[in-house]
Amino acid sequence: MDMSETQYFEMNRAGWDQRAKAHFESKFYDVEAFLSGNTSLREIELAELGNVTDKTMLHLQCHFGLDTLSWVRKGAICTGVDISPVAIQKARELASQTQLEADFVCSNVYDFQRERSEPYDIVFTSYGTIYWLPNLTRWAQVIATNLKVGGTFYIVEFHPIYDFLSGYSYFTQQEPDVEEEGTYTENGAGVEAKLATWPHPISNVINALVGVGIQIEQVSEFPFSPYNCFEGMDEREPGRFYLDHRGNDVPIVYSLTGRKVT
Ligand SMILES: C[S@@+](CC[C@H](N)C(=O)[O-])C[C@H]1O[C@@H](n2cnc3c(N)ncnc32)[C@H](O)[C@@H]1O
Repeated sequence: MDMSETQYFEMNRAGWDQRAKAHFESKFYDVEAFLSGNTSLREIELAELGNVTDKTMLHLQCHFGLDTLSWVRKGAICTGVDISPVAIQKARELASQTQLEADFVCSNVYDFQRERSEPYDIVFTSYGTIYWLPNLTRWAQVIATNLKVGGTFYIVEFHPIYDFLSGYSYFTQQEPDVEEEGTYTENGAGVEAKLATWPHPISNVINALVGVGIQIEQVSEFPFSPYNCFEGMDEREPGRFYLDHRGNDVPIVYSLTGRKVT
């Protein structure tokens, strides 16, 4: 029997609570390195988003806040939002431990209510976010509502071609794929997480953003991922993980920068 959207979100929240506990302890996320002062941000977003000093930033689907707090270290004034209470609790603990200031809000992206009166200079989201959402029109509306006119939207995300090559639909589907699996961190085998994902072709991402008044300024595609998170990846250069398909590099990550024009 098909589940309602609310039931899928509840299932994903529970799954992400389990994942957040394991991820926090993992070498993959390396909280120790972050605590000793390292950034968790990767070369792509650092190069493309550039200087964030004194910019207000809304980080959608912030997990337990490593990237949010890394942007704070770079001078941004950040709010992180995530559906998982476990992730948000850990993000708040990390903020207090490092004495970095950020607001962390436990909310479904679709229901996010801004507390500050002014919209943000930047809305940011990265690596493994939109396929947890069934509908990008609503996602784009949240972005537009919370972004200043002239503000920057930035996403860096795994390329949907990878899922297609793994046997999933490239195109949008009403019903999600539901997977019962551990998680992608090295300690994830025992994690019990049942999770629903919805595929989103890049054209849908672009059209959803254009539809709410965000002008696309740049789209990039990369033959490497900064994360070693898929089977068979090859680190050909430090921090760059490639995947081969019949002798060619799979486009594994894409990014998109937009500006709110109306
Ligand atoms: C792969 S993680 C985020 C990636 C981030 N770059 C990182 O590694 O820290 C995906 C996050 O999305 C959150 N999430 C999933 N569905 C959500 C929703 N509907 N609203 C808000 N957060 C959601 C999960 O709780 C999880 O923390």
